[in-house]
Amino acid sequence: MLPYKLQKFQATNFRNLMPDVIEFGPNINCILGENGNGKTNILEAIFVLANKKSFRKNTSFPQYLGIDGEKPEIILSSVFEVESEIVSYSAKIEEKQSQFFLEGKPAKKKPEIKLVFINPFDSYGFHNIPSHRRTWFDQHISLLDKDYKKALNKYTSALRSRNVLLSKKPPAFREQIKAFDVELAANSVYLTEKRVAFIKEMAPFTNGIFKKIFAEEHQLEIEISSQVVGLDQNQIFELLQNNLEKDEVRCVTSYGVHKDDYVLLFNGLNSFDYCSLGQQKMSYLSLLFAYIELFRYKFMAYPIVLIDDVSGELDKFRWKKLVEFLEHSEFQVLITTANEKFKEELEQIQNAKKIYVESGRIS
Ligand SMILES: Nc1ncnc2c1ncn2[C@@H]1O[C@H](COP(=O)(O)OP(=O)(O)OP(=O)(O)O)[C@@H](O)[C@H]1O
Ligand SMILES: [Mg+2]
Repeated sequence: MLPYKLQKFQATNFRNLMPDVIEFGPNINCILGENGNGKTNILEAIFVLANKKSFRKNTSFPQYLGIDGEKPEIILSSVFEVESEIVSYSAKIEEKQSQFFLEGKPAKKKPEIKLVFINPFDSYGFHNIPSHRRTWFDQHISLLDKDYKKALNKYTSALRSRNVLLSKKPPAFREQIKAFDVELAANSVYLTEKRVAFIKEMAPFTNGIFKKIFAEEHQLEIEISSQVVGLDQNQIFELLQNNLEKDEVRCVTSYGVHKDDYVLLFNGLNSFDYCSLGQQKMSYLSLLFAYIELFRYKFMAYPIVLIDDVSGELDKFRWKKLVEFLEHSEFQVLITTANEKFKEELEQIQNAKKIYVESGRIS
């Protein structure tokens, strides 16, 4: 199967973007321009079309609707290459509803546009904030496995309901909590199996990825730290029930897969404690590119890779290596930068398409 590729894109009424048609090349596309001109907005609009939501946190329609627009609606239009077919796909997005169109006709089933978004600023959150790590793993496993996403939604909804009952305190809700605990236990086993399997599947790809991108001999491995690995459904149910009194005092569920954490090992050492900022960023990028290889292995096709300004904390040697790596990759890349030096590096790539953005206009 061929990689997913974006050929054309146009956004109307999306943030500061003008409705110019952007044509992309099949390999590397460098989106260049000074701060605040609309580079990230282009990536965000593409992401919204593919995922019906933004990658920016706590951001939805009111934030990304263009403030100067005449109508409160956003139109995103695209031409994609999906599974070697050319597909025209667009969306009309309003505050309360969205409509999707395939080849100009309302779409019953929207085509799956597989994107991986890399925001290197997330390296900090990934290394320092456990909830960011959990979200990273959940999002990336979900992209590979729809059943994981369904089970995760069920788990999260049962957990939320259990916590609401806990906050009401009286033991009158214990029977209802018991029912939620059955659901939580079943989904905990399933989610844990999937998480462990994901880490195992990533291993061949994380192994050697650092060398492939940055020409350095560092080993990357992922470990899961979980209260429930190896436990069966009954044991997890017992744990939840045994902790009920304690949970009632604290009004929160203290056991379960929502407490899982992950450790990124850099040469066997915890990258959060051990690595410099640059090494953390290299490790984070390496993890993402290993994931992209796993994605290809699973779907027999590469996703489209969106990379928003990667240059901070990396020195010139590492940029060069990263650019070389991207140059030799088969996937389509849309990469932005405002950094003059990194821009010079990107501009030297032969076969790359350069897209200049100024005040939301494309040139
Ligand atoms: N709803 C909106 N309507 C119109 N303009 C908006 C809206 N939201 C944000 N903007 C504008 O979008 C611009 C920011 O765009 P973006 O984040 O894409 O910049 P950038 O080129 O990626 O810059 P940087 O290099 O600093 O990351 C700002 O000028 C901001 O005022
Ligand atoms: Mg930006």
